[in-house]
Amino acid sequence: MAEIKYLSEHYSKPEFKTLDGYKKHGGYEQLARALKMEPQKIIDEVKASGLRGRGGAGFATGVKWGFLPNNGEPRYLLCNADESEPGTFKDRLMMERAPHQLIEGMLISAFAIKSKKAYIYIRGEYMGPAAILEKAIAEAKAAGLIGKNILGSGFDCDLDLYLGAGAYICGEETGMISSLEGLKGQPKLKPPFPAVQGYLRKPTIVNNVETLAAVVPIIRDGAAGYRKYGTEKSAGTKLFSISGNVNKPGTYEVPLGYKLMDLINIECGGLKPGRKLKAVVPGGSSAPVITAEECEKATLDYECLAQMGTMLGSGAIIVIDDSNCMVDVLSTISHFYHHESCGQCTPCREGTGWMERIIHGIVHGHGNEGDLDLLIKIADNMKGRTICALSDAAALPVLSFVTKFRSEFEYFIREKKSQVRGGQIYAQLHH
Ligand SMILES: Cc1cc2nc3c(=O)[nH]c(=O)nc-3n(C[C@H](O)[C@H](O)[C@H](O)COP(=O)(O)O)c2cc1C
Ligand code: SF4
Repeated sequence: MAEIKYLSEHYSKPEFKTLDGYKKHGGYEQLARALKMEPQKIIDEVKASGLRGRGGAGFATGVKWGFLPNNGEPRYLLCNADESEPGTFKDRLMMERAPHQLIEGMLISAFAIKSKKAYIYIRGEYMGPAAILEKAIAEAKAAGLIGKNILGSGFDCDLDLYLGAGAYICGEETGMISSLEGLKGQPKLKPPFPAVQGYLRKPTIVNNVETLAAVVPIIRDGAAGYRKYGTEKSAGTKLFSISGNVNKPGTYEVPLGYKLMDLINIECGGLKPGRKLKAVVPGGSSAPVITAEECEKATLDYECLAQMGTMLGSGAIIVIDDSNCMVDVLSTISHFYHHESCGQCTPCREGTGWMERIIHGIVHGHGNEGDLDLLIKIADNMKGRTICALSDAAALPVLSFVTKFRSEFEYFIREKKSQVRGGQIYAQLHH
């Protein structure tokens, strides 16, 4: 098996991002079909397809849609295009190359869940993709694909783009909802879950860009057709964004269950000459790191990576070769989470700052014996005790880096220099 172009079949064709080009390749045909179906039948098909949310948590999409109460209230569909996790850039490719596929997937989904208003919430830094989406939305509106009585079906649905200010926490669904409401983008305690009480306190479905785009081929090929790819529990294909020390970083689509090492060696052209694999962060910076040895056994599906104590997350694979110092890498990651903590919960607000200071101290030659156990203790105390999962996301990399690469951290503390890059530069600066 190798790379597959299923969702991304036409992404290399520049015309695909225009309405005419998209239609030339069958665009909006599935919307027309879906509008003739019973909404419940679409939900059942998505359930049967086994599609799981591509935003990180991997929750079954059709099941989530089924949580909406049947109380006749208005409901909303929000597309999460915040994509701020370090290492993740696969949604960007979809929005840039196939904006109409996302719009079509959203309109089908909105029809299925009986929503008349949908938003795409996009991160502030994505000015380029935002402009492309704006244009595509305008084209679709002008063609009567968005708005009143879509394709003469009697279904009305409005769809708009909302540009956030660029904060990682606005990718968390309740933070995103607050931001969209014009409030501070801070997460809220769940329950109530957005499906019951979300945007403007009405039932709301939040789905990732890739999740919503995948609804189009599911309608075209049916659940069985979609299930031709992937594994029993991790169905379909997935876009992976690969960064770090590979020859050809980028976004690749492969069936779920694909071997991690094949993706690195075949699609990404392997490592730089003479370098050895040291570790991989398989699912965005919040996913626990795995060692080169573990990578040999890893397949890219939710189950295998969970069994290894890590996660598939958003499909952002960061490849680390032996030229990298793990203390440096963790220092960068920890800085990010401290910077992005919204500050509502004490374990997260204080813990992210404390961890960053300790790791920063080690990097600058001020590490103490006892720092590593303290880091583990702080990280342990940050898990599962906060409003949202950012605190866990900050704690997990620390736990996995320190546990799996402990000797590298110990060396740095003892020798006041990196085992890998040597270099006393930092230490000298501070003595
Ligand atoms: C701190 C944090 C940041 C998140 N950022 C994103 C994001 O950028 N994009 C995304 O789709 N989901 C993100 N999520 C997950 C969302 O809260 C939510 O689970 C997801 O959008 C649901 O869509 P899905 O079921 O299609 O995956 C984030 C979660 C957390 C805790
Ligand atoms: S866990 Fe952190 S980011 Fe999430 S709500 Fe609490 S303080 Fe904010």
